[in-house]
Amino acid sequence: MNHTARVLNGVEIAAQIKAEVAEEARVLTARGIVPGLAVVLVGHVAASEIYVRSKVKTCAELGIYSEMLTPPESVATEEMLELIAGLNARPEIDGILVQLPLPAHVDTRRLLEAIAPEKDVDGFHPINVGRLQSAASHGVQAGAALAPCTPAGIMEVLKRSGLPVAGKHAVVLGRSEIVGKPAAMMLLNASATVTVCHSKTVDIARYTRDADILVAAIGRPGFVTAEMVKPGATLIDVGINRVTDAAEVARFFPGDQARAAQFALRGSTLVGDIHPAAFALAGAYTPVPGGVGALTIAMLMHNTVLAAKARRGGAARNAQSADAHCESAVGKA
Ligand code: GUN
Repeated sequence: MNHTARVLNGVEIAAQIKAEVAEEARVLTARGIVPGLAVVLVGHVAASEIYVRSKVKTCAELGIYSEMLTPPESVATEEMLELIAGLNARPEIDGILVQLPLPAHVDTRRLLEAIAPEKDVDGFHPINVGRLQSAASHGVQAGAALAPCTPAGIMEVLKRSGLPVAGKHAVVLGRSEIVGKPAAMMLLNASATVTVCHSKTVDIARYTRDADILVAAIGRPGFVTAEMVKPGATLIDVGINRVTDAAEVARFFPGDQARAAQFALRGSTLVGDIHPAAFALAGAYTPVPGGVGALTIAMLMHNTVLAAKARRGGAARNAQSADAHCESAVGKA
């Protein structure tokens, strides 16, 4: 087959967005407003520690102030609520991110609802979920809802790659609060015709075969096979699955020397929710790694600057009134 699928390079797009965010942070800082992000990491989940460290590091690179709070695994919901109330009240903190998942004894929903909506850079607060639901288009324009970072990153990939969404059939696999549901909403806001499939959907392939844009966010390595995709479709792979079984790696990447070498070195490799053989049929696709994953942190940085501008941007010439403004905003939350 002569067809060559276009690779949508998430690392490059994330670098563009980060450069724009750094410039906005610089302009704000020159006006006396340093955007600030607080990241809360409970306990010692290895994957969460890696993500959080990466978030804090990116803040430093872009000129965003950041702070990491690390309550112990045993922390009670009430203590977490106090911690969040303290961050809500601090004028120099524009964004609050509580890394998920939390220990089972902590009431995650109550915590997320305790975050001041104007500081909710994850976009998980019901107020922001509702705002996204009633938005005319996806949340990058000023005054829009703070939108969840991974779906917002997907929309940026499509937009910056010049891939039209309006009128297309977008099929989303997965209905999580973090990715699937908000991705479906944002695609709908961008005038796609949207189908959401999930674990109870009968005959998923029937829908995926008709997808012009397929977003896979189910956390099952190689779930979407070549037979399940329409040739020429745009494939967006949100899955990041670590595969440690050599036979499985050989099955996903037959004849791929580079993967085999990487696997031999590390004992594992990353596979998305879409089978690599399906990518060959695509018009365009996001690889794993190097696709959507890179966008999540870039969009978190974007949201932090957006929150700083929304909370403090308008009252910048008078620092005192800026503080008063933000305290009243917090009071309403
Ligand atoms: N854990 C996995 N993804 C996310 C995310 O986007 N935000 C938070 N807070 N936790 C996560």
